[in-house]
Amino acid sequence: MKAIVVRAGKASLEEVELKEELGRGMVRVRTLYNGICGTDRGIVSGSLKFSRPPQGFDYLVLGHETLGEVQEVGEGVNLRKGDLVVPVVRRGCGECLNCLVGRQDFCETGKFTEIGIRGAHGTMRETFVDYAENLVVLPRELGEYGVLLEPLSNVVKAVREVEYLQGRSLWRCRNSTYSCRDAAIIGSGPIGLLFSMALKTMGFNVYVLNRRPPSEVEKDITEAVGARFVDTTKEVAPLPGPDLLVDTSGHPSAFVPLLDRIKKNGAVILFGTTGKEREEITAEQVTELVENNVLLVGSVNASKEDFREGGNLLTLWKEEYPDVLGKMITHKVSPGEAVNVLSGKLKGEIKTVVDWTNG
Ligand code: BGC
Ligand code: ZN
Repeated sequence: MKAIVVRAGKASLEEVELKEELGRGMVRVRTLYNGICGTDRGIVSGSLKFSRPPQGFDYLVLGHETLGEVQEVGEGVNLRKGDLVVPVVRRGCGECLNCLVGRQDFCETGKFTEIGIRGAHGTMRETFVDYAENLVVLPRELGEYGVLLEPLSNVVKAVREVEYLQGRSLWRCRNSTYSCRDAAIIGSGPIGLLFSMALKTMGFNVYVLNRRPPSEVEKDITEAVGARFVDTTKEVAPLPGPDLLVDTSGHPSAFVPLLDRIKKNGAVILFGTTGKEREEITAEQVTELVENNVLLVGSVNASKEDFREGGNLLTLWKEEYPDVLGKMITHKVSPGEAVNVLSGKLKGEIKTVVDWTNG
């Protein structure tokens, strides 16, 4: 079958032979769409050092953002041909307690694999076989928007963590939502925009920060969901400071200067990675963080439960913001074209997806 593979630091569309038997509890899935993200590009460029092919292979099939359709079911599987499915990315180490209870996003040994990223083939290929228990089923009506579920699952996890941890004080507002809280999100890529929607749904006042004016699509999306885009080269916002700061950029120079402006009992989510600079934290800033009880949390990956919750959000947003999910998918490319797109963002891109439905 055709697959997009990385071999010796180069991406290509190749014919590969993967012997995948449809065992008990397994499903054969036809890939419909794959999202392309910074992680894929980091793997291709070599900047993501932890990426590696599965044992015994000299190449890695890319693809961890997936929307597929059930093609064939093995014995003992409660799914039907045609069901829309999304596989979870991380596969547990089988040793630590978190992995044993399905929370491999909190794996303690580090011996997990991630499809299309480290140690396991991904889904940028015509079909793949997986255990049904690794798949999350989506309502058929979601259609291609389902390709946004994997990135969204990571956002859901991060937000749920903060909600859980913020149980340390009374952080909700009088109406039991977060309508008295300001959230500032650094970065307006797909993850930044998904954070803005998730936090808006929880009631937050949302500011999306970037060091430039918004593109047309970014303007449309933030306006449609009721968030405010702030060009930080022109204005400082929000004032006096957010209750929740989310960094999706990975650039310390973007979020460190804001740390001492976080409100009392506030929180910071660090989500972005692979920035390339240094930035000093001053003792005064440390004092502010301490004196204000500020919570700092790094967050990666997501559990199956987070994927399920993400599916609910997509269903809700499809109703609530009819144009927005469609606008998030700015480009569709063929598997052949995808190879070039993996080396750099397209103009005006929010999410580029690889379209396998014409093959
Ligand atoms: C994926 C996560 C993964 C992370 C680090 C992200 O792009 O969405 O599932 O854990 O990369 O490998
Ligand atoms: Zn991704």
